[in-house]
Amino acid sequence: MLELRQLAKTYASGGGELLTVLDGISMSVQPGELVALYGPSGSGKSTLLNIIAAIMPPDSGAVLVDGRDTATFDDQEASHYRKRQLGYINQSLDLIPGISAIENATLKLIGVCSAREARRRVTPIMERLGLADRLKNHPDQLSAGERQRVLLARALATEPRLILADEPTGNLDIQRSQEVLALLASLCDERDVAMLLVTHDPAAAAFADTAHELSNGRLTAYGPQSNGAVAPRRS
Ligand SMILES: Nc1ncnc2c1ncn2[C@@H]1O[C@H](COP(=O)(O)OP(=O)(O)OP(=O)(O)O)[C@@H](O)[C@H]1O
Ligand SMILES: [Mg+2]
Repeated sequence: MLELRQLAKTYASGGGELLTVLDGISMSVQPGELVALYGPSGSGKSTLLNIIAAIMPPDSGAVLVDGRDTATFDDQEASHYRKRQLGYINQSLDLIPGISAIENATLKLIGVCSAREARRRVTPIMERLGLADRLKNHPDQLSAGERQRVLLARALATEPRLILADEPTGNLDIQRSQEVLALLASLCDERDVAMLLVTHDPAAAAFADTAHELSNGRLTAYGPQSNGAVAPRRS
């Protein structure tokens, strides 16, 4: 489904020096596989997701989706990839103000199905995310963790085949984090979704099939004891 080949990215930082955040990243994510990505703040995790989402080009290397290099997509293919194949939950908690949680969650279904059908699809996802009592709340009436879950519902509503989730449990308590992680893992299993999950939560490794750590531009196997051990495969 997703293959990364030797991705490299260097930023020009304010002082004129260069900052290499990705220095030859190669990995793959198969349908049904949940890959967790750890790494210190500033190590380049979001940069990597933005490159996979074709929001930012790499300096070198390639992102292959179903064997095709995303750099070769024409405008229509890039749009199809971003809108229909990909579910990207980034770190912003940006919802459209002045409309309800459920309207925010159905935004990506505009033009795909009727508003009524969109609500019918999104409601069970929001219920599963513990938002059943918050469907009509506007964003300024939601907590940070609730806004994060509305964004998750929006991304899941289109039934993407590839999900990039940037710290989707960052604002949640332990109990809710476990529930969201279990939901994401079950999506991988039940719907054969390929998922790359950026997280700081050591507990997430237990839900993942594979866990990597990004540091100094390179990927290594993630182990809670930092001994290079591969995380246990979830049962
Ligand atoms: N447009 C840019 N220009 C210059 N430097 C940038 C730019 N975007 C990001 N950086 C730097 O690149 C590094 C990687 O940023 P990135 O957002 O990918 O990190 P991250 O691993 O997602 O961190 P966090 O865990 O805090 O979200 C950071 O040190 C950041 O300051
Ligand atoms: Mg980040």
